[in-house]
Amino acid sequence: EVVDEADGAEGIGRRAADVVAEELAAGRLATFGVATGSSPLQVYADLAARRLPGWDAVEVFALDEYVGLPAGDPRSYAAVVEEEVRAPLGLDPARVHVPDGTATTEAGLAAACAAYEAALTARGGADVQLLGIGATGHIGFNEPGSPLSSRTRVVELAATTVADNARFFARPEDVPRRAVTQGVATIATARRHVLIARGEHKAEAVRAALEGPVSPACPASAVRTFADVLVLLDPAAASRLT
Ligand code: F6R
Repeated sequence: EVVDEADGAEGIGRRAADVVAEELAAGRLATFGVATGSSPLQVYADLAARRLPGWDAVEVFALDEYVGLPAGDPRSYAAVVEEEVRAPLGLDPARVHVPDGTATTEAGLAAACAAYEAALTARGGADVQLLGIGATGHIGFNEPGSPLSSRTRVVELAATTVADNARFFARPEDVPRRAVTQGVATIATARRHVLIARGEHKAEAVRAALEGPVSPACPASAVRTFADVLVLLDPAAASRLT
């Protein structure tokens, strides 16, 4: 289902939060897949404001993390998930999982990827997975060229993505060039997906994802192979759809 949501961030946040709340109320939200970035922020704020019961049993898995930032770095996705998701929802820190990008060796990073993939797949994947989409068509940090069969691994970020993320860093050279991300096939293991995009700068990626070929050239196009996907767009992000 694709919804062109005229009510902007609030309307989108409410619709996405409704899906999460429905699963939580039904006792089906054992595993909640969260995205970082600006797109889902209103979802977390909306969910926190609802003060729903049942969060104490929910296990949270993030999509991705930068490689090379020290543990505790405020720009790490672990810090973002702590601030935007864990604390507002009052979750048990032991139940919140973010890929570990702090290893200083390739073997250490590979081991962290394998452990993360195993922990998530042992749970059967997420019950609800929130997704944003990059201007490059990435989901998670699966940039163009990522196999649709990919699993959690270390990836190089596209130059456009590095530039998009530069606003969070003091100097352009501080922006990490690599990340650990769930693969496209990892993301596909979720039972329900909610993809959120807002703004004109997402319009072309949204068009390619929803109307172009299903192909590694646009990893987000894989959502069309997922069984239960809600796509929430503002009018600007929807503006290139036919
Ligand atoms: C974040 C992530 C990315 C973002 C995407 C959109 O965990 O995996 O795919 O969802 O880059 O970012 P925003 O929402 O900031 O436009």
